[in-house]
Amino acid sequence: MPHALITGANRGLGLEHTRQLLERGWTITAACRNPDAADDLKALDPGDGRLVLETYDAMELGSAAALAQRVSAPIDLLFANAGMMTRETRSFGSAANERFMEEMRVNTLAPLALVEAFADQVAASEMKVIALQSSRMGSISDNDSGGAYGYRASKAALNAVGKSLSIDLKDRDIVVLILHPGWVRTDMGGPNGLMTAPESVSAQLDLIARAFKQPAMSGRFFHISGEDLAW
Ligand SMILES: NC(=O)c1ccc[n+]([C@@H]2O[C@H](COP(=O)([O-])OP(=O)(O)OC[C@H]3O[C@@H](n4cnc5c(N)ncnc54)[C@H](OP(=O)(O)O)[C@@H]3O)[C@@H](O)[C@H]2O)c1
Repeated sequence: MPHALITGANRGLGLEHTRQLLERGWTITAACRNPDAADDLKALDPGDGRLVLETYDAMELGSAAALAQRVSAPIDLLFANAGMMTRETRSFGSAANERFMEEMRVNTLAPLALVEAFADQVAASEMKVIALQSSRMGSISDNDSGGAYGYRASKAALNAVGKSLSIDLKDRDIVVLILHPGWVRTDMGGPNGLMTAPESVSAQLDLIARAFKQPAMSGRFFHISGEDLAW
């Protein structure tokens, strides 16, 4: 039975990934800041031991290593999904403030720490896929509207991290996917998003299934359509 570790599993895209993978028979380690309050996540529990909730805070650099002390099974899919976007770093004139560093911590540094903590367990699995939940807003060439300084920079930096990981983990047969989920109607995406979380996640999972033993897909930045996005 394949095993996924998903961060930010308590709501939005992470919750939907957990739901759909449980439906497909996977075992899930669902990592979130406050498992006690994660009622929607707990409601997905099939009651057969396949859903395990774990505490994880992407703001804390040591959180991934601490989690790795508690999770020892091989991990077929490591999904660095947790992310944040703040208003305070959005507009020119007031974007340079400490919240910028929070976005870098959660959106860039935390996924790297997660992969460093769990690479051995991914390498020990059958599928060996790492997915980084990036954003088209991290594409420098696609930026034609400006603003969103902290979020754009943190996702562009995540893309750079993902590319290096794909090279450094290649010898261990690990495929690193850098994904844009589309503009999705979640708390972050807002009500005007172009698709629902179930639509986005089902397309992402199809793409991830295609990545099994496909080193040519590693280190690329994908739209859910399967098209490559420009950096
Ligand atoms: N929705 C879109 O249109 C869209 C587009 C492109 C990329 N994305 C990316 O997709 C990912 C998921 O976004 P979403 O739309 O599902 O957003 P969301 O509904 O706002 O969910 C964000 C998730 O990240 C978690 N998170 C935030 N800060 C965290 C921290 N310090 N430690 C642990 N978890 C933390 C949240 O947990 P709490 O409940 O504890 O806050 C929540 O589970 C993000 O990386 C986002 O950048 C989304």
